[in-house]
Amino acid sequence: MCGIVGYIGNNDSKSILLHGLEKLEYRGYDSAGIAVLNDEGVNLTKVKGRIVNLKERVDESIQATMGIGHTRWATHGVPSITNAHPHQSSSGKFTIVHNGVIENYQDLKKEYLSDVSFVSETDTEVVVQLIEKLYNQYQDTVKAFREAMGLLKGSYAIGMIDADDSETLYVSKNKSPLLIGLGEDFNVIASDAMATLNETDQYLEIIDKEIVLVSRNDVQIQKLNGSIVERKPYTAKIDASDIEKGTYPHYMLKEIDEQPIVIRNIIKEYQDENNQLKLDESIRQAMDKADRVYIIAAGTSYHAGLVGKEFIEKLAKIPTEVHVASEFSYNMPLLSEKPLFIFISQSGETADSRSVLVKIKEMGHPALTITNVPGSTLSREADYTLHLHAGPEIAVASTKAYTAQIAVLSILASDTAKAKGLELEFDLMQELAIVSSAMEVLTDQKEEIEQLTRDFLSTTRNAFFIGRSGDYNVSLEGALKLKEISYIQAEGFAGGELKHGTIALIEEGTPVIALATHENVNYSIRGNVQEVVARGANALIISMKGLEQDTDSFVLPKVHELLTPLVSVIPLQLLAYYAALHRDCDVDKPRNLAKSVTVE
Ligand code: G6P
Repeated sequence: MCGIVGYIGNNDSKSILLHGLEKLEYRGYDSAGIAVLNDEGVNLTKVKGRIVNLKERVDESIQATMGIGHTRWATHGVPSITNAHPHQSSSGKFTIVHNGVIENYQDLKKEYLSDVSFVSETDTEVVVQLIEKLYNQYQDTVKAFREAMGLLKGSYAIGMIDADDSETLYVSKNKSPLLIGLGEDFNVIASDAMATLNETDQYLEIIDKEIVLVSRNDVQIQKLNGSIVERKPYTAKIDASDIEKGTYPHYMLKEIDEQPIVIRNIIKEYQDENNQLKLDESIRQAMDKADRVYIIAAGTSYHAGLVGKEFIEKLAKIPTEVHVASEFSYNMPLLSEKPLFIFISQSGETADSRSVLVKIKEMGHPALTITNVPGSTLSREADYTLHLHAGPEIAVASTKAYTAQIAVLSILASDTAKAKGLELEFDLMQELAIVSSAMEVLTDQKEEIEQLTRDFLSTTRNAFFIGRSGDYNVSLEGALKLKEISYIQAEGFAGGELKHGTIALIEEGTPVIALATHENVNYSIRGNVQEVVARGANALIISMKGLEQDTDSFVLPKVHELLTPLVSVIPLQLLAYYAALHRDCDVDKPRNLAKSVTVE
């Protein structure tokens, strides 16, 4: 959600900024812009829509060795050129890009800026005008910038240019992600290292509320009180080739296909030379101490959490609750005496999850983050981290991160069970290896799934996904995948629940996708299918080898019953993919959505 790139060095900044913004497209945005500074002053280009449009608009003849760029996901004000970033102060001296939400922008406007006329509807313009107001008072940009940052409430990552100073990029952040990338005779800023991997793999973390002055050859980090902070850089361990599509038409398809490999990677990463589970002793102890686990997550990660609850309760015998992050802070349940919080987040940056993390840390509770991004905010701020080892996930619709989260949760639960001396009737790593092979079989069955998409979803405006027990959790994820990228209205239901109201929506031809991978509910879910078929539904049954019947449309290879979500989700991901493709939707960048949701 929103992306920032900045460059200061000796080369022309335009192409670096545009390339960086392209790499941030996956985060979700609806307008974009860049500002570059040279002897002639600041040159601003903004567009509504995609980076390709921005590239067409940028004046190639302008050469400038410093600049900032932004992709905007609208919060305050519609997506438009006026509301797109960068924003400028009235005199044009200051130009900024901003991610996040300034909660007190109305108060700031009233208190400091009643005489200023604003051109946009954004909270960002308030920030840049405030800086100018303070500058007019102090005639000192650093002082004005620092004081303005101190007045802001809410979340922000900010990059700023002063038109009279071609030697400094002014940077600050609070809650929203922002990194400084270090180079030889240049430095960059980026919301995410992926944007600037072409330039450098050396990065400096910025802590909330720090001010950073970035020049060609130096980076100075200051606290809000002006004291200098020393910090060592780290190497971003992302392979640039991982973030290319290769021959795939879409990242989503590539990422669906990567799932068998991701599971194999996870097996490798979490197993020692004696084929024993390998987990940090401190995590083991934290799990052992907990009398209740609270899983906090959003979107697809929340759905992975629902599957994880089953593992932790069934294998490790620890009562577990799963909560939507955005609700938890405001409606906190009564906590147990020794809770352990597990944050599941692909990006490690989801603002709703982070606000829960901050709250529970204040309360003194331990936290474990399960994430795909080492070094992300949730990873840094929790006590423990488990990595997904899934490689960068670029498509907005999460696929390989979901299965990786489930696999890592199964390892965590099994490891805890073993540490507690509980007997497991199966060898998890062996079962995960079987899952990986089953996934390969499924990703080779694209033609069959594409045909099913034509048969069941080609013209529909809605669809229902049903399942019982573990299949119910996957039906929620199947429905989410379909609606987010194909815009077909889709809902997941517990098989027995549909008839308590929603069955009223079943009409002649309404698609109902039913999962039947659990023996104990095989007959009851099929009974639920009969109920909807009797009312005209077009039922697509996905079952598992050993439980299949003649009416089934698709049969999954057999895997251990607890691990069925890892395989049953794959045809659902592919159904969503083909439904979106057939409807000419932008598969990787669905409308209104963001990959990394950095505002609450
Ligand atoms: C956004 C994405 C979803 C993702 C959710 C949680 O809504 O579009 O795909 O599941 O955020 O993100 P996280 O990075 O915390 O897993």
